[in-house]
Amino acid sequence: MDDAATSGCDRMAWRAAQLARLHAALESALPALDTYPARLHAAMRYACEGGKRLRGLLVYAAGEALALDTRQLDAPAVAVELIHAYSLVHDDLPAMDDDDLRRGRATVHKAFDEATAILTGDALQTLAFTVLAEAAEPAPAARLAMTQLLAAASGSRGMAGGQQADLEAEGQSLSLAALQTLHAHKTGALIRCCGLLAAAATNASPAQRQALSDFGEALGLAYQIQDDVLDVTASSATLGKTAGKDVAAEKSTYVRLLGLEPARQAAARLFARAEASLALFGPQAQALRDLLGTIQHRNA
Ligand code: IPE
Ligand code: IPE
Ligand code: MG
Ligand code: MG
Ligand code: MG
Repeated sequence: MDDAATSGCDRMAWRAAQLARLHAALESALPALDTYPARLHAAMRYACEGGKRLRGLLVYAAGEALALDTRQLDAPAVAVELIHAYSLVHDDLPAMDDDDLRRGRATVHKAFDEATAILTGDALQTLAFTVLAEAAEPAPAARLAMTQLLAAASGSRGMAGGQQADLEAEGQSLSLAALQTLHAHKTGALIRCCGLLAAAATNASPAQRQALSDFGEALGLAYQIQDDVLDVTASSATLGKTAGKDVAAEKSTYVRLLGLEPARQAAARLFARAEASLALFGPQAQALRDLLGTIQHRNA
């Protein structure tokens, strides 16, 4: 096998191993089916199935860059995926984006009912913080720092705030700066948080934290621009969610503001910036670089 093929195999093996680890940790964090209240627990599990697990993988990959023991990363990787799953359940509600399809099947409010979907989001969010509070590792001070980071990235100054701005921006013409701020909140904050969660598990230097923050900021914005592009260019079957929803809802997106090609170019510039911000880590950031490459070339 040549070097490229070997590294391709290594990359796939790393990803498969971290995904298996994440799934096992998520499985043990979620309440058992058929325990009281069974319908809510079934909906929570349903909401957490499928998905690319990008955010959890980012926590593990950032941990590699910092030479961390993987056991320190299970709780934050699960917690960030729980917050993300909750954000999707609420994002799909009739009062928000009113979507019927998510991760290739019926959204939670369609498969269950609207009230259950609201409560599912609530319960997944609180479970994320329970996981951080109760984990055996890392040490309590690190888990407190993680709690603060995740709460800030999820709340009114993070994802929830961005979601509010997103809804208010329907049918509006935002400036590019305002749209960038919106995207940085609704999607960027949680993605940026992933690297910082890993940094909180160790004595990362200010320069390492800054590099992970810069990386996550660029990747987070690029990720939502890509999502805007895919909404226009990909099919519902490929995406596993309804394509063309943004135009129908007159969402403020990069494609609407700039056009398709300039939006693609903006994402490409941000991916390059994300890659450049990893220089400080040298070869140890290979898992982050690989993940970045996978994301950059995603079609769903
Ligand atoms: C979808 O996120 C919502 C955005 C923030 C763009 P993902 O594309 O990461 O969705 P899953 O987790 O893979 O389903
Ligand atoms: C969602 O943005 C961001 C979240 C915080 C969930 P979108 O509304 O564009 O995400 P999709 O396209 O429904 O996955
Ligand atoms: Mg939305
Ligand atoms: Mg949506
Ligand atoms: Mg979208």
